[in-house]
Amino acid sequence: MTTPDPRLSAVRALDRVIPGKGDGQSLREVLRDFPLQGSDGGLMRDICFGVCRHLRPLNHWLNQQLAKPLKPSAQPVRLALLAGLYELWFSDRPAHAIVNAYPQLCRKMKAPWAAGLSNAVLRKASKLTIEEALEGAPANIQLSLPDWLHKCWVQDWPDQAEAIAQANLYSPPFTLRVNRQQQQRPDAIATLGEGVRPGELSPWSLYVSPARPVSQLPGFDQGALSVQDEAAQLPAELLQAPPRGRILDACAAPGGKTGQLWEKFPHADLVALELDPRRLTRVEENLARLGATATLLQGDASQPDQWWDGTPFDAILLDAPCSATGILRRQPDAKWHRKASDIPALVDLQARMLDALWPLLQPGGMLVYATCSVLRDENDRQISAFLQRQPQARDVTPRPEQATMVDAGWQLFPQQDGSDGFYLACLRKNL
Ligand SMILES: C[S@@+](CC[C@H](N)C(=O)[O-])C[C@H]1O[C@@H](n2cnc3c(N)ncnc32)[C@H](O)[C@@H]1O
Repeated sequence: MTTPDPRLSAVRALDRVIPGKGDGQSLREVLRDFPLQGSDGGLMRDICFGVCRHLRPLNHWLNQQLAKPLKPSAQPVRLALLAGLYELWFSDRPAHAIVNAYPQLCRKMKAPWAAGLSNAVLRKASKLTIEEALEGAPANIQLSLPDWLHKCWVQDWPDQAEAIAQANLYSPPFTLRVNRQQQQRPDAIATLGEGVRPGELSPWSLYVSPARPVSQLPGFDQGALSVQDEAAQLPAELLQAPPRGRILDACAAPGGKTGQLWEKFPHADLVALELDPRRLTRVEENLARLGATATLLQGDASQPDQWWDGTPFDAILLDAPCSATGILRRQPDAKWHRKASDIPALVDLQARMLDALWPLLQPGGMLVYATCSVLRDENDRQISAFLQRQPQARDVTPRPEQATMVDAGWQLFPQQDGSDGFYLACLRKNL
């Protein structure tokens, strides 16, 4: 059996993620169908993530080189050219090897007509830097953003929009959470060895560089460590509840924060709710790895009458569905899948969830609202509006002095905090 060509696999994967028209599939899901290992797998994934990250500037330059546009049926050829440009401008692989690889790839793709085109385009690109190639291009193209998102960021964060976008063009750090039920953080650092440092925001976070496959993390299968961004560790860390209290994780799948809640409150009555039954299975698997237990419920957080037994909760975590604009480093394809029109629907759903879950909270209890978004409508504006509607709610979010000022809660940014872009608000219900 011949080993699959990693560049050909990358083009085939990208063709499902970035189709010519309509919605593509998520890169993460598509990559499950391309189980290449070792350096071939690394090359394939690097090309896939890189092309998704830098799609707009790569397309912009390529379009300028074409005497006539490529036909929609030549989408795989376009993707191969984009992959070659990405490798030339953003990887440290030798230019001559890249220039030679893609005409061969065109032949393998049964598009021999494109071999000459590929050779000409890549030879020309190899004489330029990305900065030279993009000279004079508008900011949204240089920053590889869809127009709507660039506009939102400029409106929401006039002083930081460019830095947010730039930060999203890099690979994210590899961050772990130490399971406090099994070990202390210094012990985990000692066991993991070189390239490990503690995070400053979450007391159980570790940054590991370079990233390692989880199979090489000591005790991973037994739940000693979990992969989780540092900002994403904050909602469960800041949620306050009595040790044996009743806690609701209202949007639980895949269960990263459910597991963390169990590590923090092992004697609590933990309830994990999730709308999608298939995703609820992921919560079950994640809890099993940790040796954790929780009551799992399938249901809609905005309609508690369908699943709530009437017993109030001492604490609620609402990790709401959102635009994912804070995790574009991890899911760069999301930039091209989301549309401006998705945002009002998400904001409406988040507001309905907040309003529906608030009555389930005991007086004196805490609700933590979180999103992996950097859009103010989903974050501080959402919570300010909620505080207006609910005079019984107080914003008690502990926010560091250097945090960007927002109307309510705590907004984190990749360029400022090193973590993903993330938002959280701790809301206390008056007694
Ligand atoms: C941001 S993710 C949660 C991530 C999770 N808390 C973790 O840390 O692993 C949001 C989740 O909410 C779920 N969801 C979407 N709409 C929902 C609803 N109406 N009720 C409950 N869950 C919902 C999605 O299926 C998704 O799994």
